[in-house]
Amino acid sequence: MSLKLGVNIDHVATLRQARQEPFPDPVDAAAVCLSTGADYIVVHLRKDARHINEKDVSSLCKHFPGKIHLECSSEPTMEKAALKYKPFSVCIVPEKPGEVTTTGGLKFTPAVVKRLHQMIDHLHKKHILVSLFISPDAASVRTAAKLGADIVELCTKAYSEASSAASCRAELQNLALSTLLANELGLKVHAGHGLDYHNVLAVADIGGITCMNIGFSIVTRALFAGLPTAVTEMKGLL
Ligand code: PXP
Repeated sequence: MSLKLGVNIDHVATLRQARQEPFPDPVDAAAVCLSTGADYIVVHLRKDARHINEKDVSSLCKHFPGKIHLECSSEPTMEKAALKYKPFSVCIVPEKPGEVTTTGGLKFTPAVVKRLHQMIDHLHKKHILVSLFISPDAASVRTAAKLGADIVELCTKAYSEASSAASCRAELQNLALSTLLANELGLKVHAGHGLDYHNVLAVADIGGITCMNIGFSIVTRALFAGLPTAVTEMKGLL
Protein backbone atom coordinates (compact mmCIF):
# COMPACT_ATOMS: atom_id res chain seq x y z
CA MET A 1 0.00 0.00 0.00
CA SER A 2 1.41 3.37 -0.96
CA LEU A 3 1.85 6.16 1.55
CA LYS A 4 -0.63 8.99 1.50
CA LEU A 5 0.53 12.39 0.32
CA GLY A 6 -0.64 15.65 1.85
CA VAL A 7 0.35 18.55 -0.40
CA ASN A 8 0.91 21.83 1.44
CA ILE A 9 -0.20 24.66 -0.85
CA ASP A 10 0.69 27.63 1.41
CA HIS A 11 3.12 28.98 -1.15
CA VAL A 12 0.50 29.18 -3.88
CA ALA A 13 -1.08 31.77 -1.60
CA THR A 14 2.36 33.34 -0.97
CA LEU A 15 2.58 34.03 -4.71
CA ARG A 16 -0.92 35.51 -4.75
CA GLN A 17 -0.13 37.77 -1.80
CA ALA A 18 3.06 39.02 -3.49
CA ARG A 19 0.83 40.99 -5.88
CA GLN A 20 -2.33 41.19 -3.76
CA GLU A 21 -4.26 39.65 -6.66
CA PRO A 22 -7.12 37.14 -6.43
CA PHE A 23 -4.94 34.58 -8.27
CA PRO A 24 -3.40 32.04 -8.14
CA ASP A 25 -6.32 30.68 -6.12
CA PRO A 26 -5.45 27.90 -3.62
CA VAL A 27 -8.82 26.28 -4.46
CA ASP A 28 -7.65 25.81 -8.08
CA ALA A 29 -4.32 24.46 -6.86
CA ALA A 30 -6.08 22.04 -4.50
CA ALA A 31 -8.27 20.73 -7.33
CA VAL A 32 -5.19 20.02 -9.47
CA CYS A 33 -3.31 18.37 -6.59
CA LEU A 34 -6.24 16.15 -5.63
CA SER A 35 -6.80 15.02 -9.22
CA THR A 36 -3.12 14.15 -9.77
CA GLY A 37 -2.17 12.13 -6.69
CA ALA A 38 -2.56 14.16 -3.51
CA ASP A 39 -4.64 12.45 -0.83
CA TYR A 40 -4.99 15.59 1.30
CA ILE A 41 -4.48 19.31 1.01
CA VAL A 42 -2.50 20.90 3.81
CA VAL A 43 -2.68 24.60 4.66
CA HIS A 44 -1.18 26.55 7.54
CA LEU A 45 -3.36 29.37 8.81
CA ARG A 46 -0.85 31.69 10.47
CA LYS A 47 -1.74 34.42 12.92
CA ASP A 48 -0.41 37.03 10.45
CA ALA A 49 -2.32 35.34 7.55
CA ARG A 50 0.69 36.08 5.36
CA HIS A 51 -0.27 33.37 2.86
CA ILE A 52 -3.39 31.34 3.63
CA ASN A 53 -6.23 33.39 5.15
CA GLU A 54 -9.54 32.47 6.77
CA LYS A 55 -11.43 32.94 3.50
CA ASP A 56 -9.14 30.35 1.88
CA VAL A 57 -9.76 27.89 4.72
CA SER A 58 -13.50 28.44 4.41
CA SER A 59 -13.49 27.91 0.60
CA LEU A 60 -11.19 24.90 0.75
CA CYS A 61 -13.27 23.18 3.45
CA LYS A 62 -16.46 23.84 1.44
CA HIS A 63 -15.05 22.61 -1.88
CA PHE A 64 -13.12 19.59 -0.57
CA PRO A 65 -14.88 18.10 2.47
CA GLY A 66 -12.83 15.36 4.11
CA LYS A 67 -9.66 16.45 2.34
CA ILE A 68 -8.41 19.51 4.23
CA HIS A 69 -5.72 19.14 6.87
CA LEU A 70 -5.36 22.47 8.66
CA GLU A 71 -2.15 23.42 10.45
CA CYS A 72 -2.46 26.10 13.13
CA SER A 73 -1.18 27.14 16.52
CA SER A 74 -3.07 26.57 19.76
CA GLU A 75 -4.10 30.25 19.99
CA PRO A 76 -7.83 30.66 20.77
CA THR A 77 -8.41 32.58 17.48
CA MET A 78 -7.00 29.63 15.52
CA GLU A 79 -9.13 27.16 17.46
CA LYS A 80 -12.16 29.33 16.69
CA ALA A 81 -11.39 29.21 12.96
CA ALA A 82 -10.88 25.44 13.02
CA LEU A 83 -14.18 24.88 14.83
CA LYS A 84 -15.96 27.20 12.40
CA TYR A 85 -14.71 25.70 9.12
CA LYS A 86 -14.39 22.07 10.29
CA PRO A 87 -11.46 20.70 8.29
CA PHE A 88 -11.05 16.91 8.25
CA SER A 89 -8.10 17.17 10.61
CA VAL A 90 -6.07 19.79 12.44
CA CYS A 91 -2.36 19.64 13.12
CA ILE A 92 -1.43 21.83 16.07
CA VAL A 93 1.99 23.38 15.54
CA PRO A 94 4.12 25.83 17.52
CA GLU A 95 4.28 29.27 15.93
CA LYS A 96 6.75 32.04 16.65
CA PRO A 97 6.24 35.60 15.37
CA GLY A 98 8.59 36.40 12.51
CA GLU A 99 9.68 32.83 11.80
CA VAL A 100 10.22 32.00 8.11
CA THR A 101 8.65 28.57 8.60
CA THR A 102 7.81 26.23 11.49
CA THR A 103 11.03 25.65 13.38
CA GLY A 104 10.33 22.39 15.22
CA GLY A 105 7.89 20.30 17.20
CA LEU A 106 5.72 21.36 20.14
CA LYS A 107 7.49 21.99 23.46
CA PHE A 108 5.29 20.38 26.09
CA THR A 109 5.55 22.85 28.96
CA PRO A 110 2.81 22.53 31.63
CA ALA A 111 1.02 25.58 30.17
CA VAL A 112 1.14 24.13 26.64
CA VAL A 113 -0.12 20.73 27.85
CA LYS A 114 -3.04 22.41 29.66
CA ARG A 115 -3.98 24.41 26.57
CA LEU A 116 -3.64 21.38 24.25
CA HIS A 117 -5.97 19.39 26.53
CA GLN A 118 -8.68 22.01 26.05
CA MET A 119 -8.17 22.43 22.32
CA ILE A 120 -8.08 18.69 21.57
CA ASP A 121 -11.28 18.25 23.55
CA HIS A 122 -13.02 21.06 21.63
CA LEU A 123 -11.88 19.72 18.23
CA HIS A 124 -12.91 16.16 19.09
CA LYS A 125 -16.37 17.37 20.10
CA LYS A 126 -16.73 18.61 16.48
CA HIS A 127 -15.40 15.26 15.15
CA ILE A 128 -12.18 16.81 13.86
CA LEU A 129 -9.14 14.54 14.02
CA VAL A 130 -6.19 16.00 15.90
CA SER A 131 -2.53 15.73 14.99
CA LEU A 132 0.32 17.15 17.06
CA PHE A 133 3.53 18.24 15.34
CA ILE A 134 6.30 16.82 17.51
CA SER A 135 10.03 16.15 17.57
CA PRO A 136 10.84 12.50 16.93
CA ASP A 137 11.58 11.53 20.53
CA ALA A 138 9.96 9.08 22.95
CA ALA A 139 8.92 11.70 25.53
CA SER A 140 7.03 13.75 22.92
CA VAL A 141 5.30 10.67 21.52
CA ARG A 142 4.20 9.58 25.00
CA THR A 143 2.89 13.05 25.83
CA ALA A 144 0.93 13.20 22.55
CA ALA A 145 -0.63 9.80 23.34
CA LYS A 146 -1.53 10.89 26.89
CA LEU A 147 -3.17 14.02 25.49
CA GLY A 148 -5.44 11.85 23.33
CA ALA A 149 -4.16 12.96 19.92
CA ASP A 150 -5.18 10.81 16.97
CA ILE A 151 -2.04 11.44 14.96
CA VAL A 152 1.50 12.62 15.55
CA GLU A 153 3.33 14.36 12.76
CA LEU A 154 7.03 13.71 13.24
CA CYS A 155 9.16 16.72 12.40
CA THR A 156 11.70 15.79 9.72
CA LYS A 157 13.56 19.11 9.90
CA ALA A 158 16.62 17.69 11.69
CA TYR A 159 16.72 14.77 9.22
CA SER A 160 16.38 16.98 6.14
CA GLU A 161 19.07 19.37 7.41
CA ALA A 162 21.51 16.66 8.56
CA SER A 163 24.99 17.64 7.40
CA SER A 164 26.71 14.24 7.55
CA ALA A 165 25.83 10.65 6.71
CA ALA A 166 26.14 9.74 10.41
CA SER A 167 23.71 12.42 11.60
CA CYS A 168 21.33 11.55 8.77
CA ARG A 169 21.35 7.90 9.95
CA ALA A 170 20.83 8.98 13.56
CA GLU A 171 17.86 11.17 12.61
CA LEU A 172 16.33 8.36 10.55
CA GLN A 173 16.66 6.10 13.57
CA ASN A 174 14.89 8.67 15.75
CA LEU A 175 12.07 8.78 13.20
CA ALA A 176 11.87 4.98 13.00
CA LEU A 177 11.86 4.46 16.79
CA SER A 178 9.30 7.23 17.33
CA THR A 179 7.08 5.70 14.65
CA LEU A 180 7.28 2.30 16.31
CA LEU A 181 6.39 3.71 19.73
CA ALA A 182 3.58 5.88 18.34
CA ASN A 183 2.04 2.91 16.54
CA GLU A 184 2.31 0.81 19.73
CA LEU A 185 0.45 3.56 21.59
CA GLY A 186 -2.30 3.57 18.96
CA LEU A 187 -1.31 6.76 17.16
CA LYS A 188 -1.25 7.27 13.41
CA VAL A 189 2.02 8.74 12.18
CA HIS A 190 2.61 11.49 9.64
CA ALA A 191 5.97 13.00 8.74
CA GLY A 192 6.90 16.33 7.27
CA HIS A 193 9.11 19.38 6.97
CA GLY A 194 11.91 19.86 4.48
CA LEU A 195 11.14 16.68 2.54
CA ASP A 196 12.00 16.71 -1.17
CA TYR A 197 12.26 14.37 -4.16
CA HIS A 198 15.57 12.92 -2.88
CA ASN A 199 15.39 12.76 0.88
CA VAL A 200 11.79 11.50 1.04
CA LEU A 201 12.76 7.97 -0.02
CA ALA A 202 14.49 6.92 3.21
CA VAL A 203 11.59 8.23 5.29
CA ALA A 204 9.07 6.47 3.04
CA ASP A 205 10.94 3.22 3.76
CA ILE A 206 10.15 3.47 7.48
CA GLY A 207 7.17 1.18 7.96
CA GLY A 208 4.30 2.52 10.05
CA ILE A 209 4.13 6.07 8.67
CA THR A 210 0.81 6.67 6.90
CA CYS A 211 1.18 10.12 5.35
CA MET A 212 3.86 12.57 4.23
CA ASN A 213 3.02 16.28 4.33
CA ILE A 214 5.12 18.10 1.77
CA GLY A 215 4.93 21.66 0.50
CA PHE A 216 7.90 23.75 -0.56
CA SER A 217 9.64 21.17 -2.76
CA ILE A 218 6.43 20.36 -4.66
CA VAL A 219 5.35 23.97 -5.21
CA THR A 220 8.83 25.01 -6.37
CA ARG A 221 9.13 21.97 -8.66
CA ALA A 222 5.76 23.00 -10.12
CA LEU A 223 7.31 26.24 -11.41
CA PHE A 224 9.41 24.23 -13.85
CA ALA A 225 7.45 20.99 -14.35
CA GLY A 226 3.86 22.09 -13.74
CA LEU A 227 1.76 21.24 -10.69
CA PRO A 228 0.26 17.96 -12.04
CA THR A 229 3.74 16.58 -12.82
CA ALA A 230 5.21 17.79 -9.52
CA VAL A 231 2.45 16.06 -7.54
CA THR A 232 2.45 12.88 -9.67
CA GLU A 233 6.23 12.53 -9.37
CA MET A 234 6.14 12.88 -5.57
CA LYS A 235 3.24 10.45 -5.19
CA GLY A 236 5.18 8.02 -7.40
CA LEU A 237 8.04 8.02 -4.88
CA LEU A 238 5.73 7.03 -2.03
N1 PXP B 1 4.36 19.81 8.25
C1 PXP B 1 4.30 20.89 9.07
C2 PXP B 1 3.72 20.72 10.43
C3 PXP B 1 4.75 22.15 8.64
O1 PXP B 1 4.67 23.21 9.46
C4 PXP B 1 5.25 22.27 7.32
C5 PXP B 1 5.70 23.62 6.84
O2 PXP B 1 4.59 24.47 6.74
C6 PXP B 1 5.26 21.14 6.51
C7 PXP B 1 4.84 19.91 7.00
C8 PXP B 1 5.73 21.19 5.09
O3 PXP B 1 7.09 21.53 5.06
P1 PXP B 1 7.78 21.83 3.68
O4 PXP B 1 7.11 23.03 3.10
O5 PXP B 1 9.20 22.06 4.07
O6 PXP B 1 7.60 20.62 2.81
